[in-house]
Amino acid sequence: MALKRIKYQGFRNLADAELEFADNFNFIIGKNGAGKTNLLEAIFYVGLASSFRIREEQNLIRAGEPFLRVDAETENMRAIVYFDGQKKKLTLQGNKVTRLSNYVGWQGITILSIEDIWMVRGTPSRRRAFMDWTIAKTSAVYLSNLIEYRKILRQRNRILQNGGDNKDRDVLELFDEQLIKTGNEIYHERADFLPKLKENITVFGQELGLQELTLGYCSSCPDMKLNHDILKRVRHRELIVGHTLVGPHRDDLLFSINARPLRSFASEGEERAGVISVKLAEAEILYKETGKRPILLLDEVAAELDRDKIEVLLRLLKGQVFFASTQLPNFSKSNRTKDRFFSVERGVFEISSEN
Ligand SMILES: Nc1ncnc2c1ncn2[C@@H]1O[C@H](COP(=O)(O)OP(=O)(O)OP(=O)(O)O)[C@@H](O)[C@H]1O
Ligand SMILES: [Mg+2]
Repeated sequence: MALKRIKYQGFRNLADAELEFADNFNFIIGKNGAGKTNLLEAIFYVGLASSFRIREEQNLIRAGEPFLRVDAETENMRAIVYFDGQKKKLTLQGNKVTRLSNYVGWQGITILSIEDIWMVRGTPSRRRAFMDWTIAKTSAVYLSNLIEYRKILRQRNRILQNGGDNKDRDVLELFDEQLIKTGNEIYHERADFLPKLKENITVFGQELGLQELTLGYCSSCPDMKLNHDILKRVRHRELIVGHTLVGPHRDDLLFSINARPLRSFASEGEERAGVISVKLAEAEILYKETGKRPILLLDEVAAELDRDKIEVLLRLLKGQVFFASTQLPNFSKSNRTKDRFFSVERGVFEISSEN
């Protein structure tokens, strides 16, 4: 479903405004610091009630303002997110939504940005976050299991940290039970999701010139199953280090081309093409699961690609696209009459004469 318009107040450097979008490509062009990423972030925020850049949500509110608010409208949905630095209020179709898992997913959104390179180069937690969010976008059950799992983990770790005496050990057994139950629910959905991701990654990789781009899963539990035996085996070490050593929170994804890890063998351009393939795969899965194309937010993605790859990329993008860049990519405008071109300066957007 395409975003028809959004209205934002108090969001970062964006001057309060209402913008209407094209159903296909929306190009957002402006200098460094103009507000391009901020607009993408506002769209993402109203879609998923979280940001792709920061943990401190207070920073989203424009300096000196008491709150932020973003309203979004598609053909048949209306969503509002309000945040005053303490409290977040979510609304769908005018109704208050109290659970995050009931809000996420009202609109599919996939962001591709230059930062995604950390999905290859960064720590396992980056890759897990990608996997968890992608599954959560189509499964409210997954998201609530994940939230529950993290809660159990925090409590279990606290006991491990001051562990030792018998009373604690009894409580630990209770938490083991919960960890196994919720952990296996998470494993179950991951095992379902991974083959789909793998299949799509290879297809997009090929389009972008990568031979045999593929995906492996490194699990801390054999066959992605958590049980009492495994926990017993690591118990002694867990009491020494003071945290839970096995389970879905300890696993990792491994991207490779030609059977070699992407992070240690690929060129920079290949790494970028690899990451773009992963994100396009995510969008394709969202489409297949929901029947609706997710909105694609592209932040300065083309900057590192050669011209041929940019053309392939533009051809591969389906559905509504927000393409932010300091420069308009090189392409023929003749078949882009339905697209909309915005220029942005100091947080103010204008429909540009390119149109
Ligand atoms: N809470 C805030 N209040 C006011 N201004 C903010 C806030 N948060 C960020 N900004 C400012 O918003 C400006 C625009 O940021 P943004 O990341 O959108 O730029 P950009 O157009 O994507 O630039 P680049 O091309 O460098 O990526 C920055 O100068 C930043 O300092
Ligand atoms: Mg930016």
